[in-house]
Amino acid sequence: MTMNQDVKKDTVASHWLTGNARQMWNHPHQFPAEIAWREGGIAKFRMLHKYLYAITSADFARQVLVTHHERYERSFQYKTGRAVIGDGLLSTDGPAWLKRRREILPAFKTNTMRRLVEASAAAAMEIADRWVTVSAQTGSVDIVAETQRLALITIGKTLLSTEIDDGHAADFGAAVRETLYLVRQRNTSLVRLPLWIPTSGNNRIHRTRQVLDEFLVPHIEQRRLQPNSEAAQDILQTLTQARDRENGEALDDQALLDETKTLFVSGFETTATALAWTLFLLSRHKSIKAQWQQECREVLNGRVPTFDDLERLPFTKQILQEALRLYPPVYNMARECITDDILGNTRIKKGSVLLISIYGIHRSPAYWENPDEFRPERFARENTILPNTYYPFAIGKHVCIGAQFAMTEMITILAVLGSRLQIVPADLEPVGIRAQITLAPSREILLRTTAL
Ligand code: HEM
Repeated sequence: MTMNQDVKKDTVASHWLTGNARQMWNHPHQFPAEIAWREGGIAKFRMLHKYLYAITSADFARQVLVTHHERYERSFQYKTGRAVIGDGLLSTDGPAWLKRRREILPAFKTNTMRRLVEASAAAAMEIADRWVTVSAQTGSVDIVAETQRLALITIGKTLLSTEIDDGHAADFGAAVRETLYLVRQRNTSLVRLPLWIPTSGNNRIHRTRQVLDEFLVPHIEQRRLQPNSEAAQDILQTLTQARDRENGEALDDQALLDETKTLFVSGFETTATALAWTLFLLSRHKSIKAQWQQECREVLNGRVPTFDDLERLPFTKQILQEALRLYPPVYNMARECITDDILGNTRIKKGSVLLISIYGIHRSPAYWENPDEFRPERFARENTILPNTYYPFAIGKHVCIGAQFAMTEMITILAVLGSRLQIVPADLEPVGIRAQITLAPSREILLRTTAL
């Protein structure tokens, strides 16, 4: 197909004024997935005067993210985050992003992963005991709040070598969640006033930025004063040592702050949500749960997990992969077309915004048998996954820099929990999806936890 033979795609049915804004606002994970499934992998829709494309075709998504990536860049949705997290890896693109990505990549080396296993295992041991006590006292634990606590403690330790105690966890965790909420609100609101206008939304954005900065700046200042502190073999330390390939310059304080904030914001809620869904699924699938517990107990045999144990937990990994397929924390990725393109026979004009529906690809009946069923064995070595139909951490140049970090952390935590806890649902009512920035559960998930 050449540029001249392209076809204009019809827009799906919508309200005359607002277009599909209401459906997007209410079901931002489901709506793009459903229309694109129905329309053969790509569907056009409208939000007010703006036209967008939803994509669930693995081939089209690959074209946008990989083979024609130079025709697309991150859309305005990511730039909104700048007001809080500054110019970090997640909110930039182009040469500035590439330079930064190269500088930061060494922070995710194997040594970091080893320290991460220690930190996650220690946090999980503590939390397992806590869950047993809380459950005995109150009848259940709220797994969504608890996995957030767990993820925050782990990332605090690995990123900054800091213990995020209860007081800080509450304030800082709330500020990170508030960031995600405000970014989504600003991205989906019909009118976006400039940030210097003191609306209540804008004021909240500035306050949140202040809470994050007030927590992180002292850590950075302290590190500048003691650059070679023995105790600090953490990610911040690696970032302070990062050098530009060409001129050998180090990151300045603002860059350090922006990147530290970015790693917190992108790594905390995503991991916490994924863990919450995984425990929810396990609690409701008895035989899979029993197999998981058996694997963890056999491998650990009462020990704390080490980095080398992780590869001996294949079923635990499959469980996690399957949970990330069903509930990918990052469910849509938005890209803006900067040079005209053609996807199949649909012409994509410069300026169009495309939503790659990771949720839609992961649950597409075209690629998965019984897509809504929880079947970890899909990921067993003897089974085949179709190419480009599974990527909770994205594909292409913006592939998640923390993917290995997240998998290492979550497998370690699951290994500890699986070897120590019995988990049973406190109720069997359905739990829906409340898609915000991440794909969160629609309500609290209460589990009864006892020692195994
Ligand atoms: C289950 C956990 C996680 C999931 C599902 C996830 C998913 C993703 C996805 C889909 C992207 C691509 C976004 C886009 O370009 O549109 C991304 C990017 C990113 N993630 Fe993650 N992530 C997770 C955990 C983490 C962790 C633990 C960290 C850091 C410690 C992290 C840091 C980042 C950063 C900095 C980027 C931007 C990368 C770039 O553009 O160069 N993520 N993540």
